Amino acid sequence: MNVLIIGSGGREHALAWKLAQSPLLSRLYIAPGNAGTLLHGENVRLDTDNYTALKDFVLKRDVNMLVVGPEASLVNGIHDFFKADPELTDIMVIGPVKEAAMLEGSKDFAKEFMKKNSIPTAEHATFNSDELADGLAYLKSVDPPYVLKADGLAAGKGVLIIENLEDAEKELTAMLRDAKFGAASNKVVIEEFLSGIEISCFVLTDGRSYKILPSAKDYKRIGEGDTGLNTGGMGSVSPVPFADAEFMQKVEHSIIAPTVRGLIDEGIEYKGFIFFGLINVEGEPFVIEYNVRMGDPEAESVIPRIKSDLLQLFMAVGNESLDKEQIETDPCYATAVMLVSGGYPGGYEKGKIISGLEDAAGSIIFHAGTKKDSDSGKILTNGGRVIAVTSLADNLQDALRQSYVNASAIDFDGKYYRRDLGKDLMD
Ligand code: AMP
Ligand code: GLY
Repeated sequence: MNVLIIGSGGREHALAWKLAQSPLLSRLYIAPGNAGTLLHGENVRLDTDNYTALKDFVLKRDVNMLVVGPEASLVNGIHDFFKADPELTDIMVIGPVKEAAMLEGSKDFAKEFMKKNSIPTAEHATFNSDELADGLAYLKSVDPPYVLKADGLAAGKGVLIIENLEDAEKELTAMLRDAKFGAASNKVVIEEFLSGIEISCFVLTDGRSYKILPSAKDYKRIGEGDTGLNTGGMGSVSPVPFADAEFMQKVEHSIIAPTVRGLIDEGIEYKGFIFFGLINVEGEPFVIEYNVRMGDPEAESVIPRIKSDLLQLFMAVGNESLDKEQIETDPCYATAVMLVSGGYPGGYEKGKIISGLEDAAGSIIFHAGTKKDSDSGKILTNGGRVIAVTSLADNLQDALRQSYVNASAIDFDGKYYRRDLGKDLMD
C-alpha cells in the first residue's frame, strides 16, 4: 500500500509514525510534512489544492490511499474530486466527502443535523445577514453568557463567548453586518451556554459501522490554569479519567450511534474520523461541535494508544468492512506536552534552531511546526506549535513527569509550554 498523507502538523506526524509501523505499508508520502514526518516517509512539495497536480502525483507514484489531516481540504471537496474521476475512484480516501464535511464546515448544518437526530446539544437559533434585527431581539431573550458562532470555518477563531448583552450585540452586528469573519460569518449561530468539562471523543467509520478510539482532553488556552488566548492546543491527555465506562456508554448511545445512523438515514457517505467535541454537564454528555478529522494535539496522545494496525483499519474503512476488524487500545496514559514559539498565538519568529531532540529518551517526539534546513541539516522552528512531547506510562503522573523531563531538555529560543497539563484531572 502506498499512502499519501496531507498536512504538516503534529497530527500528521503521529499518523505517519503509526502508519510506518504497518507491515502493509510500502511507501509513505507526506504533503508537505515537517522535519518529523521525514523520519517515516518522503515529504513532497505539492499544492494539494491544485487537483491537477495532485492527480498527476498520485498516478505517477502509484498512491493507493489518501489520508487527509486537516478539515479545509475535506470541506473543499478533495474526496469528491477523487470519487468523480474514473482514474482516481479506486484510491481510498480517509476523510469524508464535502457534504459530510459540512458537519464541521457549517455550524448551522451540524445543529440541524443534531436536532433532527435528537442528539443532545445546546439550544440554538441561526440568523443570516438579513436577519440582524431578529438576532439582536433573540439575544435579549436569552441568558448570558452569550455564545456566538460564525457558521463557517474561521480557523478556530469563530466562536465568541460574551458576558454582557451590549458586547454581544456589538459582536453579532460585526459578524453579520460587517463580515467580521468574512463569508464564515454570513450566518451566525447563537447558542445556549453549557457549563462543564470538555472532552474529545473520536470514532473511525466506514459509513456503516464504527470503532471508538481513545478519548482525550486538550488544553486550548495559552496560559496555565486555562487563562489567556485560545491556541490550536497546548497539549493533550488520554484517557480522560471522568470518561468512565458509564459516561462512554452514554456518549455511544446518545451521540455516536445516532450520528452514524443519522448519516446513513440521510444517505450521506462518511469515511474517516468523526471528532465529537463534547461537554460533560453534570454527568451528561452534550455535543459542542463536530470535526471531520482527528484532533490536534489529541492525535499525539490518542494514536500512540492504538495498538492495532491503523493502516489495516484504514483499508477496512476504504473497503467498508470495518465491522470485521477489532481495535485494541493500550490501557496506559498518554500525555502530549506542546512546545510553542514565544509570542504564539500572536506573532512569533521562525527559524530558531531546536536542540536536544536526539537525547529525548523515553518520550515520542512528534514534530509540528518544524523544518530541516537543507544546508546545515539542523532542525528549525517553522510555526507556532513546534514539538509535542508524548509519553506513555501506567498512570497520569508518571506520563506527565516524563513528558516534562523532555519538554525541559528540548530547547529553542523563545520556547514556552504549559506546566499544568493534567492537573485538573488529578483532584
Ligand atoms: P467550537 O469551535 O464550537 O469548539 O467552540 C470553541 C470553544 O468554545 C469550545 O471548545 C468551548 O470551550 C466553547 N464553547 C462552544 N460552545 C459552547 C457552549 N454552547 N457552551 C459553553 N462553551 C462553549
Ligand atoms: N484540538 C482541537 C482541534 O483539533 O480542533
